[in-house]
Amino acid sequence: MEVIIDKTPEISSANAAAEIAKLLKAKPRAVLGCATGGTPLKLYADLISMCENGEISFAGVRTFNLDEYVGLGPDDPNSYRRFMDENFFDRIDIKKSNTRVPDGLAKDIPAFCSEYEKEIKDAGGIDLQILGLGSDGHIGFNEPSSSLCSRTRIKTLAPQTLLDNARFFGGNADAVPKYAITMGIGTIMDARSVVLLAFGEGKADAVAKMVEGGISAMLPASVLQMHENAKVFVDEAAASKLANIDYYKYVRSMRP
Ligand code: PGA
Repeated sequence: MEVIIDKTPEISSANAAAEIAKLLKAKPRAVLGCATGGTPLKLYADLISMCENGEISFAGVRTFNLDEYVGLGPDDPNSYRRFMDENFFDRIDIKKSNTRVPDGLAKDIPAFCSEYEKEIKDAGGIDLQILGLGSDGHIGFNEPSSSLCSRTRIKTLAPQTLLDNARFFGGNADAVPKYAITMGIGTIMDARSVVLLAFGEGKADAVAKMVEGGISAMLPASVLQMHENAKVFVDEAAASKLANIDYYKYVRSMRP
């Protein structure tokens, strides 16, 4: 796990965007795993700018999103499909048919989840998975106690996640859907590389446990310690509870 600490979320996002740009230049038909939430917004804005100025293209790219609320369709302003269209897909040169977000209105959820897994496999697997980090340590909507080998499935959202996401629902935690379809932790671990972003003091505990704690289903992101190619982009605030902060900075400055 490579821990990359920068002063601000803006600098971290620019560095993460550079990582994705590097992949797209090397592999124009790359498969990207996308995340929603407040954290990746600046990253998406940077990628949009790079696309607008011709530095990168998404014309051959395919995407798979991590998750979607059960019961919310693409027309719902709070659906993750809508979030992705507005904040990313509608503003880059990607073919909309190459973008996949779990179907929150699927009638047969287990069948949909198996099909989603199959589509990822048929696309050749995910080259780079973008992740945020829940304050409870979740990745995707894999809440504490999720199996570290889990695949795409329906999950019950943790009370902490309902509180964290209430800001997108007029501040009302009761309005947040209670269930989501999410890629599993095993699905995420199959990605060839992972770029996780976490910003702000509110994420500092989860970041410290993810990087320096034991691997545990109670802190799902800690499984990334087992990933061969995981980069963690954090700002100073999110890094503030890491015991070995000087070591990560030293390693970064000494990279061969
Ligand atoms: P946030 O959510 O980016 O809105 O903080 C992160 C997550 O829940 O994965």
